[in-house]
Amino acid sequence: MAWDERQRRMLEAMGIRLWAPAVREAREEVEDREEVEEGEAVEAASAEAAAETLRRQARVGSVGSPGPASKVAAAPPRAEAAPPAALDALDWPALRAAVAACTGCGLCATRTNTVFGVGAAGAQWMVVGEAPGEQEDRAGEPFVGKAGQLLDRMLRAIDVERADDDGEPGRRAFICNVLKCRPPGNRNPTPDEVRRCEPFLRRQVALLQPRIVLALGRFAVQALLGSDEPIGRLRGRVHRYEGRPLVVSYHPAYLLRNPADKARAWDDLCLARETLAAAVADAPP
Ligand code: URA
Repeated sequence: MAWDERQRRMLEAMGIRLWAPAVREAREEVEDREEVEEGEAVEAASAEAAAETLRRQARVGSVGSPGPASKVAAAPPRAEAAPPAALDALDWPALRAAVAACTGCGLCATRTNTVFGVGAAGAQWMVVGEAPGEQEDRAGEPFVGKAGQLLDRMLRAIDVERADDDGEPGRRAFICNVLKCRPPGNRNPTPDEVRRCEPFLRRQVALLQPRIVLALGRFAVQALLGSDEPIGRLRGRVHRYEGRPLVVSYHPAYLLRNPADKARAWDDLCLARETLAAAVADAPP
């Protein structure tokens, strides 16, 4: 996919500069692939290729970002938080590329990979955690560590998977985080990082249009509901986010430390499943 003029302007407005050589190189990579791939797969690849080219250039310092030697000492120039209106123009591949190229906060200086999210584009479930940890940063995929394994088991218990395929939408989850980059040392996200990254999440919701959102832990709740209330006070009922039903539950990392609350988490999953079933019955896809 080549970004059209409007999308290019939006990306640049967000502080994501599209240097002509990077774009040209990305296009050439895509053209090579077009010989063997067609349709949407190429669209996704082109956005990814553009992002990868930008990332590669950032790593070697050819676009003004620090090279590996200066990575920690000098953070790349900050962009302002992406204005939500700018993101509104982006489709899924362009949004993924925008996340991959983001320098909106200092976390870009220490990340290995951005973590956009994983799952089927048609998933009816959207599961939102806090931020990538060390393993997620390395893998570029959310929830791959111990907490992720627990999450997968919990979802499987209600017959839901993160599989990236065309399976039954009601049994597919898209899993992502509030922050797309790892806070060093797994520290908590700062309010500024949440504020800058939240528009990406909002756009993900707008594009995915999940029928149920499951917010795990206090940072997901703060970002999605703007509430500082403890999870224990917010769980057990259905909230709304951008008009979509949202259920609050404990973060799986918390559940690893507090297994006694797993029974409550199970109740939350059941509530989410019932809420989804009711939403689909009211308005079939
Ligand atoms: N914790 C999270 O909130 N997200 C991850 O991706 C991993 C651990």
